[in-house]
Amino acid sequence: MNQILSFRIPNVIYAGFGASERLGPEAKAMGASQVLLVTDKGVTNSGITENLQHNLTKAGIGVEVFDEVKPEPDLACQDACIKFAKQGKFDVIVGAGGGSAMDVASVTAVMMTNPGSVTDYVGADLIKKPGIPTILIPTTAGTGAEVTPNAVLADPDAKGKKVLISPYILPRLAIVDPYMHISMPPSVTSSSGMDALAHAVEAFTHFTKASVITDLFAKEAIVMIGRSIRTAVAKGDNLEARYDMAMGSLFAGIALANAGVTAVHALSYPLGVEYHIPHGVANGLLLPYVMEFNVPGNIPKFALIAKLLGEVVDHLPLLEQAYRAAEAVKKILFDMKMAHSLTDLKIPEGAIPEMAKAASANTRLLSVNPRTMTAQDIESIYRKCL
Ligand SMILES: [Fe+2]
Repeated sequence: MNQILSFRIPNVIYAGFGASERLGPEAKAMGASQVLLVTDKGVTNSGITENLQHNLTKAGIGVEVFDEVKPEPDLACQDACIKFAKQGKFDVIVGAGGGSAMDVASVTAVMMTNPGSVTDYVGADLIKKPGIPTILIPTTAGTGAEVTPNAVLADPDAKGKKVLISPYILPRLAIVDPYMHISMPPSVTSSSGMDALAHAVEAFTHFTKASVITDLFAKEAIVMIGRSIRTAVAKGDNLEARYDMAMGSLFAGIALANAGVTAVHALSYPLGVEYHIPHGVANGLLLPYVMEFNVPGNIPKFALIAKLLGEVVDHLPLLEQAYRAAEAVKKILFDMKMAHSLTDLKIPEGAIPEMAKAASANTRLLSVNPRTMTAQDIESIYRKCL
């Protein structure tokens, strides 16, 4: 209550079925004559790249495509995109895809106007000038990268990640169109959806930055994802479920962008870096166990999460209500047949001490977890996941 709140989102968000039709006219209104479309081969193979290109050319805008973004892009991938962009004369950059393509697009845009190399800007608020305008279009419902001021690049040499945090990473326009998610396979729907649920839960229970504003978005995200993730996985062309997941992911992203994430994301990094487990799969597995651990740190909020996820808990003492939140998440994982143990992911027990050491180094996220978490605690959470 004593904090002065700050809240940032992109200048404009278009969200809803058919929102991607606005791409051409909106790019035109930004003054675009030549657009760079940054994406990946999966998006191109699905036909989405061609549709977006068509939409832009219909508006009289020239388009070139860079679709070499890889999952978990590293600096080399980022630099290849910047090199491509510098060879043309682009006035707007469009990023379409999962978090990887959108992040590479955002960083490329700021590197068009800021000198030096990407590594000069790793950290918070180091980017001096706004980049050229960007439009971000998620093709999955999960990362929230279309509304977050951070871009994440893999650093395989250091076995870690490099994060650029700046308001200039936010796009001029975010377009969220659930029609674009219909072709997403069940495995991507479940893993990206669990990532979004982790964003909402972690932003809602963030120790220092959860606020009355971010709580609004986080709570609605938990409701929408909780009621529709199973259906979106079970029947990909169920439009209501896709709508809920698209909006839930957007709201979770807004909550994440303005509050932040905590221990789930700290503990999932080593699974991604060392074992290449997809971000959403790792977060999904860890989420209920970290929630269970975190309950004593914020009993009323975890009790509310249980209700938001549809648990009938009014007859229970508050503490029991709170633990039911973690149980509700376990049921979601079980119903979607997602990995719910490290063994499922072929991660041996012997790897736990090393992973715990790596996770405990992430003090940026652990210090804002609702419950103090030591290296020993982390080890025992990983063991519960075996
Ligand atoms: Fe995430």
